[in-house]
Amino acid sequence: MTATRQVALVTGASSGIGKAAAIALAGTGFEVIGTARNTARVTAHGVTYLDLDVTSDESVASVVKQVIDRFGRIDILVNNAGVGANGAAEEFSVDRTQDVFDINVYGIMRMTKAVLPHMRAQRRGRVINISSLSGFVPSPFMAIYTSTKHAVEGYSGSLDHEVREHGVRILLVEPGPINTPFGGPQRAGRHPYAALRVGTAHLRRGAGEKYQRWRRSRRRGQCDRRGGHRPEPETAVHRRLDGRGHQHAAPRRSGPNL
Ligand SMILES: NC(=O)c1ccc[n+]([C@@H]2O[C@H](COP(=O)([O-])OP(=O)(O)OC[C@H]3O[C@@H](n4cnc5c(N)ncnc54)[C@H](OP(=O)(O)O)[C@@H]3O)[C@@H](O)[C@H]2O)c1
Repeated sequence: MTATRQVALVTGASSGIGKAAAIALAGTGFEVIGTARNTARVTAHGVTYLDLDVTSDESVASVVKQVIDRFGRIDILVNNAGVGANGAAEEFSVDRTQDVFDINVYGIMRMTKAVLPHMRAQRRGRVINISSLSGFVPSPFMAIYTSTKHAVEGYSGSLDHEVREHGVRILLVEPGPINTPFGGPQRAGRHPYAALRVGTAHLRRGAGEKYQRWRRSRRRGQCDRRGGHRPEPETAVHRRLDGRGHQHAAPRRSGPNL
């Protein structure tokens, strides 16, 4: 069967930006398939949920096949699934680093490789990769996360040149801090924050009023790490759909809108 509505597949749609994007796409008329590792208890209006682990080749192949079998097409892939990784670079073992890359980088590559043959056959499609401010700004104690997002940027920009003649574009979204569960169970180094504590001690000593203000508001959950306001994911996604807010397409300044 081929769906009459356009079909969007969203990874990491159990919470945060992915869930907000899935709901927003459903609200604008897309047939939306939201995915996460265990979606048994996840619901969102207008979104069909399927289990998908982006670190598994089998899981990726099986879900893409299910979507094609059921809806006949995939017009938009939102590669949103991702995890954080805070801590000093020297504290991360290669194994832990590989785990983070497996989700944030290879997960995107697995998904993209699985949908591209269908998009090329359709001669249309959009792959939207959720990168980050960390995709182009280096940050101390975020080297692992930052390098995954830099990898996503290189992959997206290069791939966009390969596939655009087939009617497919690869887009990047580069959010700043957004209020999601992302700040919770992040992957940290084996001795998390030991080096971070040493590394930031001089910052705390010389912090002064601005730092204390930031700490107080952060305790109240109002601010991001840099002391700015942290918007809700729904607000951030709608800003993107409205063409407002921080955003880039790949290649940065010439990609089409959705
Ligand atoms: N929040 C921010 O400040 C911020 C800023 C810039 C960029 N981003 C990016 O935005 C994206 C979404 O983050 P978020 O803030 O919305 O965090 P979130 O609410 O924690 O969402 C992360 C999503 O990724 C999914 N996920 C994790 N591992 C997975 C795996 N192996 N296979 C499939 N799904 C997996 C999670 O689903 P399950 O755990 O249920 O499987 C969840 O739905 C990430 O790529 C992140 O790097 C976030």
